[in-house]
Amino acid sequence: MKKLFSEFNIKNVKMKNRICIPPMVVGFRPDGYVAPENVERYKKLAQGGAGLIIQEATCINIDGRLSEKQLGIWKDNQIEGLKSIVNAVHEEGCPIFVQIHHAGVVGVSENPLCPSAYEYKTPTKTVVGHEMTIEDIKSIQNDYIEAARRAYEAGYDGIELHGCHGYLICQFFNKRVNKRTDEYGNNPEKFVIEILEGIRGVTPEEFVVGIRLGGFEPTIEDGLHYAKVLEKNGVDFLDISYGFGSEQEMNVPEGYKYSNAVYAAEKIKEEVSIPVFAVNGIYSVETAEEILKERDVDMVDIGKGALINPNWANDAKEGKDTGKCLSCSKCMWFGQSKVCPGKVMFDKANGQK
Ligand SMILES: Cc1cc2nc3c(=O)[nH]c(=O)nc-3n(C[C@H](O)[C@H](O)[C@H](O)COP(=O)(O)O)c2cc1C
Ligand code: SF4
Repeated sequence: MKKLFSEFNIKNVKMKNRICIPPMVVGFRPDGYVAPENVERYKKLAQGGAGLIIQEATCINIDGRLSEKQLGIWKDNQIEGLKSIVNAVHEEGCPIFVQIHHAGVVGVSENPLCPSAYEYKTPTKTVVGHEMTIEDIKSIQNDYIEAARRAYEAGYDGIELHGCHGYLICQFFNKRVNKRTDEYGNNPEKFVIEILEGIRGVTPEEFVVGIRLGGFEPTIEDGLHYAKVLEKNGVDFLDISYGFGSEQEMNVPEGYKYSNAVYAAEKIKEEVSIPVFAVNGIYSVETAEEILKERDVDMVDIGKGALINPNWANDAKEGKDTGKCLSCSKCMWFGQSKVCPGKVMFDKANGQK
């Protein structure tokens, strides 16, 4: 039997296979509340047979959004809508974690926060993040803790802290962005360790708390260091992706067979005992199986593969065509999923309009 289709547990959360659908923001409403389309989307993904779904980056504070149409978990009255996603996914026999997120300087705020003053350049503008005061730090840490409490109350099986892709936690980790000279700069992991302690204080022991971490922050040595520190501080799993976009040095051996993020996951797995997830460019059953077996990670994230074909896991198990992401220079799913060329191609081949 393939490792891909073997069962796996994190604490009491049982997964029927090693396929995780990673967080992918696809916005529907501008107010942060769950829309019927969100529920439908997650129900369909759950029916697709994955072992685990991690809900898209869901913001802990309205000022920390990465886009206007991002889901929110910053108010108690958002819990009800979130519960409808959880229930829809659980009804299909799939566990669900939610990724909790604050964008920091890489967001839509007019006056964004950053660990220290930082100029963030986009193709159209330069945003200047202002250095967080200690009061800002404490207040945002509390927003993460409150968001985790809401996630538990909504019925999620766990949370994933969004600690990569340039967003706030990642800005603390990366010393090229975090130039603070106080304890949050000299000891960059302090920000997230205090959040973890706070979350443990408001959720029960069995509630799963993991993190999506950049493997290169800015180098793999930093990624390894943070992974070990986080394991020591009680995180239940590490989902390894990329760090702060322009401030990474991806020192990966030439000719490495998979993506740089998979390399980082493989290296980190050699040094920790907790579950490690690998991501990026895993589109076929063969690649997924090879990465699980030969690189010894515990779960594989099937991202764009599941955008094109939400039934990816069932199709993979039945030996059917799982579809093909065309790796467009900018993935169109974020704003206009209906024109995804990979999805159009896949639907056509399968006789769907
Ligand atoms: C439309 C879209 C939205 C995404 N949103 C998130 C997100 O909310 N949080 C996150 O950590 N990564 C996000 N990602 C990154 C994916 O989770 C994944 O890491 C990336 O697509 C690479 O995996 P893949 O090659 O399997 O697609 C997003 C990717 C896409 C295409
Ligand atoms: S828009 Fe392009 S990159 Fe995005 S999922 Fe579709 S084919 Fe893949």
